[in-house]
Amino acid sequence: MKIAIISGSHRCNSQSLKVAQHIQKTLAVDSTSWLYSLEDNPLPLWDEGVWDGEQKWLDILTPIREQLSSCDALVIITPEWHGQVPAGLKNFFLLFGKNEMGHKPALIVSVSSGIGGSYPVAELRMSSYKNSRICYLPEHVIIRDVETVLNDNAADNNERSDSYIRERLQWSLAILKEYAIALKGVRDSGITQNEQFGNGM
Ligand SMILES: Cc1cc2nc3c(=O)[nH]c(=O)nc-3n(C[C@H](O)[C@H](O)[C@H](O)COP(=O)(O)O)c2cc1C
Repeated sequence: MKIAIISGSHRCNSQSLKVAQHIQKTLAVDSTSWLYSLEDNPLPLWDEGVWDGEQKWLDILTPIREQLSSCDALVIITPEWHGQVPAGLKNFFLLFGKNEMGHKPALIVSVSSGIGGSYPVAELRMSSYKNSRICYLPEHVIIRDVETVLNDNAADNNERSDSYIRERLQWSLAILKEYAIALKGVRDSGITQNEQFGNGM
C-alpha cells in the first residue's frame, strides 16, 4: 500500500512538515509513502495553460500526477492560517483532481500553534472534494499547541499531549489503511468512471 502525504504549509521549517515527517515514519512500518511538501511554493498558481496542456505545466505536473495516481490513500496536512487553509493547498486542489485522487480515502490532519485547527478541517470538507471526489474519512486529527508535540527531543514535548497525539495518529492511520483496501474495490468495479458526470453536482 502506498500513501501520499501532502504537507500544506508554504513556510520553511514548518510545523506541518514536522507532522508530515512523523506520519511518514509511522507509516514506514508496513506501507510505502510519498511526501510532497508545499514549502517555498513549488507549484505556480493555476492558469489556463493547465487545461491547454502547455509543456511548462506538463513538466511540473506529470511527475506529481504519477505519484498521486500510484497512491491508494492520502493524508492532507493543513495549518490554520488566518482561519483558513493556505492558498497553496487550495491551488493544489485546482491542479490535481479526480484522475489522481478520485474515490481515494484521505485523512485530514490540521495544525495550529495555538487552539485553532477546526476551520481548515471544515474548509477542506466543504470545498476540496466536489470535483476531485477525494473521500475524507469521518475521522480527522487536530493538533493544537503543535510546538509541544512530536518533537525529536522529548524534553520539548508536553508528555501527555504528545503521547495522546501519537496514539491518535496511529489509530487514524490504521483506519485510513482499511478504507484504502475497501475503496480500491469501489474504483476497480468501474462504476466511478463516468463520462456523463465529469464533475461533482
Ligand atoms: C499567515 C499565518 C496566519 C496564521 N493564522 C493562524 C490562525 O488563524 N489560527 C491559528 O491557530 N494559527 C495561525 N497561525 C499560526 C500557525 O498555527 C502556526 O504557524 C503553526 O505552526 C502551523 O503552521 P505551519 O505549519 O506553517 O508551521 C498562522 C500562521 C501564519 C504563518
